[in-house]
Amino acid sequence: MSHQKTIDTSFGSISPAEFFYRNRQMAGFGNPTQALYSTVRELVENSLDSCDDAQTLPLIDIEIQSVKSEIITVKVSDNGTGVPSEQVPQAFGQVLYGSKYSQQQKRGTFGLGVTMAVLYGQITTDSPVIIHTRTQNSNGHLYRLLVDVENNLPLVESNEELQRNNVGTTVIVQLKGDLKRAQDRIIEYLRLSTVSTPHAKLSLKIDDEIHVNLGNWSNTLPEPIRPSKPHPRSVDMEVLRRLTSRHGEKNLDDFLCKSFQKIGPRTSARFLRFMNLNPNRTISELTRDELAQLAQALRKYDGFERPDSKCLSTIGKSDFLNATTSVFNVRFAEYASRGVNEWQGNPFVIEAILATGDDFPRSDIPTLYRFVNRVPLLYDSSDDVLTRVLKRVNWSRYSVSSSEPVALFIHLCSTKIPFKAAGKQSLASIPEIEHEAHQLLKELGRKLGKINARANRSVRETKKMREFSKSFKQIVKFSTTLAGYDEVPSTDALVKQLFEVEPDE
Ligand SMILES: Nc1ncnc2c1ncn2[C@@H]1O[C@H](COP(=O)(O)OP(=O)(O)OP(=O)(O)O)[C@@H](O)[C@H]1O
Ligand SMILES: [Mg+2]
Repeated sequence: MSHQKTIDTSFGSISPAEFFYRNRQMAGFGNPTQALYSTVRELVENSLDSCDDAQTLPLIDIEIQSVKSEIITVKVSDNGTGVPSEQVPQAFGQVLYGSKYSQQQKRGTFGLGVTMAVLYGQITTDSPVIIHTRTQNSNGHLYRLLVDVENNLPLVESNEELQRNNVGTTVIVQLKGDLKRAQDRIIEYLRLSTVSTPHAKLSLKIDDEIHVNLGNWSNTLPEPIRPSKPHPRSVDMEVLRRLTSRHGEKNLDDFLCKSFQKIGPRTSARFLRFMNLNPNRTISELTRDELAQLAQALRKYDGFERPDSKCLSTIGKSDFLNATTSVFNVRFAEYASRGVNEWQGNPFVIEAILATGDDFPRSDIPTLYRFVNRVPLLYDSSDDVLTRVLKRVNWSRYSVSSSEPVALFIHLCSTKIPFKAAGKQSLASIPEIEHEAHQLLKELGRKLGKINARANRSVRETKKMREFSKSFKQIVKFSTTLAGYDEVPSTDALVKQLFEVEPDE
C-alpha cells in the first residue's frame, strides 16, 4: 500500500505588469536611487523620440522636486507630437504597449519604460501619474491614471479637456527616490544626451537650487528616417508564418518582392531558381518542410544586398565632434565610422570619437562613454560587450598611457539593439557588432598613435635643439672674444633654420 501524500500544486499565470512589478530590478527600478534615475531617463527618452517624430528641435524641461524626505516629483515637458487622447491610458498604464515596434531606429524599444515609472510611483507613494498632452488635432487633455497591476490595464482616475498652450506632452510622476545619490548621475545622463542628440535643448531644475541649461550644439535636424520591411536574412519560422498568413494568396515571386527589402524581380527569380521552386506557386501551397527550407535559404543565401540604412540615424562626424567638444574640454578629437553593416539581417552602424583632454580620468586605457540609438548608457558597463572590446585593444601600442587622459565615445545604432535586460543598460555579445567595434577602435588607436608619435618626435627634436642651441651660443661667444669683437651675434635664426622648430627662449 502506498503512503505517498498528495501534493497540492496550484498553477496559474500572471500578467506582464505583475511580472515587472515582481521583478522591477530587471527594468532598472531596483532601488530608490536607480528608480529616480530611470524615471528621468525614460521620460526624457520618450520626449526625444516624440520630437524626432514631430521633426522639431527638442525643447525639454525637466523639474525634480523633493516634496518631503525621499518623496520626489519628476516633471518632464516636451514639444513633441503629443499623444492622441484615446491612446493615453494604454500608453501610460499598460505594460508592453507602445508605438515603437516597427523596423526603425528609436530610443524606446519595449513599450515598458514610462509604465514602469508609473507603476513604481504608485507602489511607493500611492499617487497617479498626471499626463497633460496636446496633439495637432486637439486643444489638450489632462489624465490622472494608475496601473491595474493584476490585469495589466490602465485605471483612469480622471480625464478632462484642458487647454495646453503648445503641442507636446507633460508627464508628472511622484515616487520614492534618493535624490542625493541619483543627482550626479542624472546630470551626467542629460549632459551626455546632448552629445548624442546635439540638436536638443535640455533644461534641468532641481529643488530651486540647481538650474542647468544644456545644448543645443546644432540647429540642424537629423534626416527623417523611415521604417523598413524585414531583410530576408532576419527571417525565422515565426516571421515566415506571419507573412504567409498575411499574403497566402500571392505567388512566390510576388510574395518575396512584397514582403522583404532588397528583393526585386531579378533577385527573386535568381533566388527561386537556386531553390528550385516554381515562381508561380502560391505561398500557401508550400508544405511545412518546404517553408522550413525557404526560411533557412533566405537566411543563408548570399545574393541579397546589405540591409537598408535609411531606417537609421547616426550622429554624424561634424555634429558628434562639435557636441563632444562643447560638453568636454577636449585637446584632440578624431572621428571614425565603419559604415552600415548587419547582424541577423538587422542593419547597424558604429561611429566613435577618440578624444584627449583634462576632463577625462587618467588611465592606461581610454575612459568609455557608451551610446545606443542616441541614448547614453551609464550603468552596467562591466557587463557590456563594448567594454570587452575596449579591453581587447592593446592601447599601449598607440602610446595611450596614464600621462595623457583619453576618452572613447562610441555610438551604436540599429533597428534592433541586443540589450541584455529590459533596463536597457548593457549590450549582449553579437559577433558582428564585436568585430566592427574592434576594427573601429583599432582604426582610431592608429590615428591617435600617429599623432602621439609626431608629438613625441617634436618633443625629442625640441630637446635636441635646446641642447645644441646652448652649446652653439657658448661657441659663438667664445669665438667672438677670440676674434676681438664686442657684440655677440644672435644664433636663433640659424638654429631655427637647422631644426625647423621654434626655439624656446
Ligand atoms: N512624451 C511622449 N510623447 C509622445 N508619446 C509618448 C510620450 N511618452 C510616451 N509616449 C507613448 O507611449 C508609449 C509607451 O511609452 P514607453 O516608454 O512605456 O515605451 P516605449 O518608449 O515604446 O519603449 P521603452 O520601454 O523602451 O521605453 C510610447 O511608445 C509612445 O507612443
Ligand atoms: Mg520609452
